[in-house]
Amino acid sequence: MAESNLDGLLPQVDNDKKTEVERIVDSDRVAFEDWYKDPQHAQSFADAPHAAMRYILVPKVFLELSNDPEAVNAVIIDQTAKRLNGIVVEHKLQPVSNSESYEQYNMLLEQKRKNTPNDEIFIPPDGPDDIDPEHLLYNSFVEQGLIDFNDYVANVITLDVNENGCLYVGTYHDREELRGKGVAKSFYKRLQDVARKMGFRYITGNNDTRNLSFFTGTLGRSLIKDIKPEYWHLFMSTQQRAPSDTDTIDFLYPEDKLQFLSSK
Ligand SMILES: CC(C)(COP(=O)(O)OP(=O)(O)OC[C@H]1O[C@@H](n2cnc3c(N)ncnc32)[C@H](O)[C@@H]1OP(=O)(O)O)[C@@H](O)C(=O)NCCC(=O)NCCS
Repeated sequence: MAESNLDGLLPQVDNDKKTEVERIVDSDRVAFEDWYKDPQHAQSFADAPHAAMRYILVPKVFLELSNDPEAVNAVIIDQTAKRLNGIVVEHKLQPVSNSESYEQYNMLLEQKRKNTPNDEIFIPPDGPDDIDPEHLLYNSFVEQGLIDFNDYVANVITLDVNENGCLYVGTYHDREELRGKGVAKSFYKRLQDVARKMGFRYITGNNDTRNLSFFTGTLGRSLIKDIKPEYWHLFMSTQQRAPSDTDTIDFLYPEDKLQFLSSK
């Protein structure tokens, strides 16, 4: 009996959550729209209010996957005109890492580091199971007090405005257990709209051979090396002489694709 009652309640819970997610996204979207409409904010993150940055960084699908969408946030590490760097987290009710284990592991790490001769490569020992892997990977964020043991990290994202005016996704770190659920797609699709509204024509990134087809296939990006060489300088940093096989570009206006891509 109790089980069937629960079954009956689940769709209601789902609908409530969906409504809550919509409300959060709508409210952040309004903050973003109010902010970007000021022409002074074109291609700049400088004065973005927190809710606008949350709109840019938090994938909607992560809100839907969270236990409590209200507890999802973007912790901002760096915000300048040319850079937005943030951590997407859900602040859980219970810690996701054991603080004592974390302290012990860090002491062990320190000891091992001290005992490793300078001419040897230091390989950190595996962390215990009761420390969240993201807290091990991003222990500097924990040390700086940016996140705590109740923060479940979904993404670390860096967006840079390149010297040639491309929006460059320098980091899109994601949590392995959240892959294949639509999180990246939801982030990058939103980013296309956000970038266009902020006055960008191109989103660029350097990907790797393992995930290249996500960018060229799922997201429909092009390879920078397929652009006519006389235009390469428009899309790459000044230090780079030629595009690598994994540099990709999202043309936000289809006419640019026609103009810049070489017809092969
Ligand atoms: C590639 C990656 C970003 C995709 O993230 P994700 O959250 O698992 O992707 P999604 O669940 O949103 O994927 C949705 C779609 O992409 C496809 N896809 C996912 N990973 C893919 C991959 N590695 N290669 C090709 N296609 C992929 C899925 O098949 C799915 O296709 P569909 O919409 O046609 O059904 C992720 O798997 C990954 O490699 N993360 C490591 C960090 C990284 O590479 N960052 C980017 C460079 S900074």
